[in-house]
Amino acid sequence: MIAQGSKVQVVDHPLAQHLLTRLRARQTAPHQFRRYALALSDFLVYEAARQMSVRETGIETPVAPTNGVVLSDYVVLAPVLRAGLIMAEAAQKLMPAARIYHVGLKRDEETLEAKCYYDKLPGSLPNDCRVFVLDPMLATGGSAVSAIDLFVKLQVKTIQLVSFVAAPEGIQRVHDKHPNVHITTGSVDTKLNELGYIVPGLGDAGDRIFGT
Ligand code: PRP
Ligand code: URA
Repeated sequence: MIAQGSKVQVVDHPLAQHLLTRLRARQTAPHQFRRYALALSDFLVYEAARQMSVRETGIETPVAPTNGVVLSDYVVLAPVLRAGLIMAEAAQKLMPAARIYHVGLKRDEETLEAKCYYDKLPGSLPNDCRVFVLDPMLATGGSAVSAIDLFVKLQVKTIQLVSFVAAPEGIQRVHDKHPNVHITTGSVDTKLNELGYIVPGLGDAGDRIFGT
């Protein structure tokens, strides 16, 4: 794992990078893409979860008393529709007690601004909860910032963002507005192109996952 500054974590594990390469490849079909995306999500969420808090607890093994730890965070998973759904599936397997609040955002392909069309957030959340915003693509950062804003409005202090691929422009935008958000990603790519796509990226994540 490469730490890029303290707030960006690039998961450079060979298994994760192999999966990301399969996702990038143009010829990867949607059914394969979903399988690789689920597997990559496991690695990324697993690494993002290193930030989680634990509480010490005493237990007895069949042989002797000892001390261990249990997870102590109230965890919220916030998949950004559509593409984040596949990451939520993986994250829920790793953290079965997590609550899932969906956020529907659609990027206007002309202005590149994100519009919120669905938010299933409650009126309040414990303000010491830990939110994982899940979105495979961090491009301009408009969608990520809009999703994070929703939780900041609810006074949530600990928000993490998990993506497959991030553009430097998106990382900058997120950290300009929310400097404390920790980002876990499979890659920091080169740039955005004139259409707002990540280069080299992997194309349109939603279309590739859902075969549309
Ligand atoms: C894609 C992607 C992110 C967003 C990233 O979603 O899944 O949510 O674009 O771009 P940004 O950083 O410039 O905001 P899109 O809006 O295409 O919606 P979809 O998943 O429903 O296709
Ligand atoms: N959304 C995507 O799905 N891919 C990109 O490269 C940029 C935004």
